[in-house]
Amino acid sequence: MRIDVYFTPDSLSQKKIEGRQAVIIDALRASSTIVTALANGSRAIIPVAETAEAVEVRSKLGPENVLLGGEHEGIKIENFDLGNSPLEYTKQVIDGKVIALRTTNGTRPFTMFRYNQPVRVGAFLNLSATVKQLCSNGSDLALICAGNNGSFSLEDTLAAGAIIDGLADSLVCDIELNDSAKLAALHYNANRNRLLETIKESEHGKRLTGLGFSEDIVFIAQTDRFDISPRFEGGQIFLSDPEDPSTEDTQRILGLEL
Ligand code: MLT
Repeated sequence: MRIDVYFTPDSLSQKKIEGRQAVIIDALRASSTIVTALANGSRAIIPVAETAEAVEVRSKLGPENVLLGGEHEGIKIENFDLGNSPLEYTKQVIDGKVIALRTTNGTRPFTMFRYNQPVRVGAFLNLSATVKQLCSNGSDLALICAGNNGSFSLEDTLAAGAIIDGLADSLVCDIELNDSAKLAALHYNANRNRLLETIKESEHGKRLTGLGFSEDIVFIAQTDRFDISPRFEGGQIFLSDPEDPSTEDTQRILGLEL
């Protein structure tokens, strides 16, 4: 399996992702929020690039079905129901709801490309479940870090390195890493016993601490809290799998035209 890491989605092109499975990573905080929301019973997440698109999703699917979530400069968007803190996405609040989510960096990679292979949502929270899915697919892999306003981010690269480490342990086939993937693996191996500290020391970690979100950092640094591997397809992120008939109903409900 060839593994390429992209430190930001801007270093990726439509051509480069053709024919490869992908994982989108915004450990702090969008991908962690998505994983938490789905684990707590959200029906689906619809990632959007702009605030107005989230509002449009709500009017199309009906306000009773949809909550608006997301942030601007770390803070909940005005008139939205939820911010981008995974701790807000409790079962009580989001069970059965579709979430239209807009964040600064994390939702961008979902909207920038057309994907013709499975796309998974990766975080520390669902590390082993992600690795398991990638192994079962087996094709070449793009690990897409959301980054930090167009720049490299320590925490996304750390999560990419953790996925590479898991694949190296699990795969029977050889893995081949591009230079960015080698750097991500080195970064993870140097910091694997101090994940929380490394994330806290990152630029975004410091910014969120300053905004009063230090509990979010502790939460997202947990490894394998959830055994789920959300899938992005047709503009929606959900848990159901074509092979699993028990999830058919969810798929049908989501067949609503967007
Ligand atoms: C993003 O998408 O830029 C981040 O998730 C921002 C945040 O931490 O809220």
